[in-house]
Amino acid sequence: MESIQSIKQRFEIIGQDPKLNRAIEKAIQVAPTDISVLVTGESGVGKESIPKIIHSLSHRKHAKYIAVNCGAIPEGTIDSELFGHEKGAFTGATQTRSGYFEVADGGTIFLDEVGELPLTTQVRLLRVLENGEFLKVGSSQVQKTNVRIVAATNVNMFEAIKKERFREDLYYRLSTVEINIPPLRERQEDIHLLFRKFASDFGQKYKMPTIRLEDSAVDLLLKYRWPGNIRQLRNIAEQISVLEENRAIDAKTLNRYLPHNVGSNLPAVINTKKSEGDFSNEREILYKVLFDMKGDLNDLKKLTMELLKNNDSQKVQEENENLIRKIYGDKQEEEIEDQDISPLEVLHLPEPQVERAFTQVPQEDKYHFAEEIQEEETLSLQEKEIELIKKSLDRNRGKRKAAASELGISERTLYRKIKQYDL
Ligand SMILES: Nc1ncnc2c1ncn2[C@@H]1O[C@H](COP(=O)(O)OP(=O)(O)OP(=O)(O)O)[C@@H](O)[C@H]1O
Ligand SMILES: [Mg+2]
Repeated sequence: MESIQSIKQRFEIIGQDPKLNRAIEKAIQVAPTDISVLVTGESGVGKESIPKIIHSLSHRKHAKYIAVNCGAIPEGTIDSELFGHEKGAFTGATQTRSGYFEVADGGTIFLDEVGELPLTTQVRLLRVLENGEFLKVGSSQVQKTNVRIVAATNVNMFEAIKKERFREDLYYRLSTVEINIPPLRERQEDIHLLFRKFASDFGQKYKMPTIRLEDSAVDLLLKYRWPGNIRQLRNIAEQISVLEENRAIDAKTLNRYLPHNVGSNLPAVINTKKSEGDFSNEREILYKVLFDMKGDLNDLKKLTMELLKNNDSQKVQEENENLIRKIYGDKQEEEIEDQDISPLEVLHLPEPQVERAFTQVPQEDKYHFAEEIQEEETLSLQEKEIELIKKSLDRNRGKRKAAASELGISERTLYRKIKQYDL
């Protein structure tokens, strides 16, 4: 039997927590059988590697492995996706189609977010689990298949059963063996280990020195509730790796990246609606940021249009003083009046001046701003600006000071733009 350690290596699973090890051990033990497995655990804990481990250690490993996200398929098409349909079964069914249960015959199907399956589909699924039989949509001819099911859910199935959203008989049929993956906050020993691994990966990916947490930051990392678990930890390691110039991260800096709307020290509430609430809240914040950005973009479009129509940039500035202040803040005047035309400001000049400004790029300039910009004429000014900032940050290995001076803007302006464009 393959060891837990070698499985972790093969599937790139980091961590030494005994509960995680137990989950992997269970997967190894159950793999050679055809028993249905239900993987449970909060969002982002790493449920998806379990069905892969089970399939690859089973006698089915050379047959198909199909992962289906039940929550992402519209209710109207899910039966046809899973079980196929006959020609003419519904409008648009111009041909007979095989479903996943037919295609995966001899293999494994991973039903992710199984709690989202509509009740009618649950009936069909129960039948396949019981005797391997199914009907294509629109057909009365019984077909047979030999498929092993591994399902996963991050919702409380007992609550779903109580609310009659999930069939109790199907639940027991699916969860012959249940493998629970613990939330990150219950894997204290692994939190910093995972963070270091992600920090090192992102340092390499973005060609920047690896960020390092000071002791105070490690304390905070361990105390935080991690509602989004490992997925959230990885996203935060990525954000900090890209945005922080100082690579030694203290608690204050780390704290700026941790959403606190959920109360980081509250006791853990596992598998309840609460964790879903956390994310709807985060989503709302993201929507707001997107709306704000869209507003800024519209303002910028308006301003650019004015500049393109009207060669007198002084006049445009005067007439749009409020708009300019809204987009650039109070410091903008100083920047607009700057004598030196920077690669970024060039984007905001009317056409003839743009040409002149490009010719000022020194011959030996190995970055060829002018060429890059002309090549991408179809991009909007804002996209060009983002592109220039990204390239400059890349070239300067994320050092804002160097990037700002290359772009000919103040560090503060660069900082504002990084925030504004979420770079
Ligand atoms: N132990 C681990 N080591 C390294 N990476 C991990 C580990 N656990 C999870 N991850 C990574 O975290 C991310 C989230 O994991 P995964 O997609 O399996 O979550 P999930 O439990 O299926 O969540 P959801 O219920 O939201 O679908 C993935 O990118 C995965 O590679
Ligand atoms: Mg998942």
